[in-house]
Amino acid sequence: MNKASGILIALFAVLGGTFAACVPGYSQIGDKCYTVPGLPRRFDYWSSNELCSVAKGDLFHVQNITQWEDLNTFLVGLGYYDTYWTGVAAEGHPGLWVVRSTGFELIPEAVEFKAGSPSNSATNLCLAIEYQADLGRYQWVDYPCSDEYVIVCEYRTCN
Ligand SMILES: *[C@@H]1O[C@H](CO)[C@@H](O)[C@H](O)[C@H]1NC(C)=O
Repeated sequence: MNKASGILIALFAVLGGTFAACVPGYSQIGDKCYTVPGLPRRFDYWSSNELCSVAKGDLFHVQNITQWEDLNTFLVGLGYYDTYWTGVAAEGHPGLWVVRSTGFELIPEAVEFKAGSPSNSATNLCLAIEYQADLGRYQWVDYPCSDEYVIVCEYRTCN
């Protein structure tokens, strides 16, 4: 191996490590990077979005059930059983659930709603996750955006 290819291999190793890990302040959970800024302080939905934005992130969303299971396990392990805001809110009309950071509709198969949820009522326009003590895990619920809950942000990526 000549010197140039050795340097190239070393460079790719460094870049590979950079892509795999998270920026400081974020933890890698499954294939995503999350942080829980302000915990245990609670914020309404709009302040929550701003707080994530300051941390170069967005309120979290999940694209498939694997990501949801990974995050659920992490939050249960964190042991702080408050309700957390998600990055999903009703857009246009109640029950049309949209991921605010992407503009795409929520993939229902990627999440796990609490029995009877969402209510899709005109007053409950933001989605949260709530700890279910009987199940030992979090499930999704819709609440008024003016409610105050704790927050999970995911790092903002280009995709
Ligand atoms: C879940 O979604 C992420 C992001 O699109 C993807 O990288 C990952 O492979 C998906 N996992 C499964 C099990 O579909």
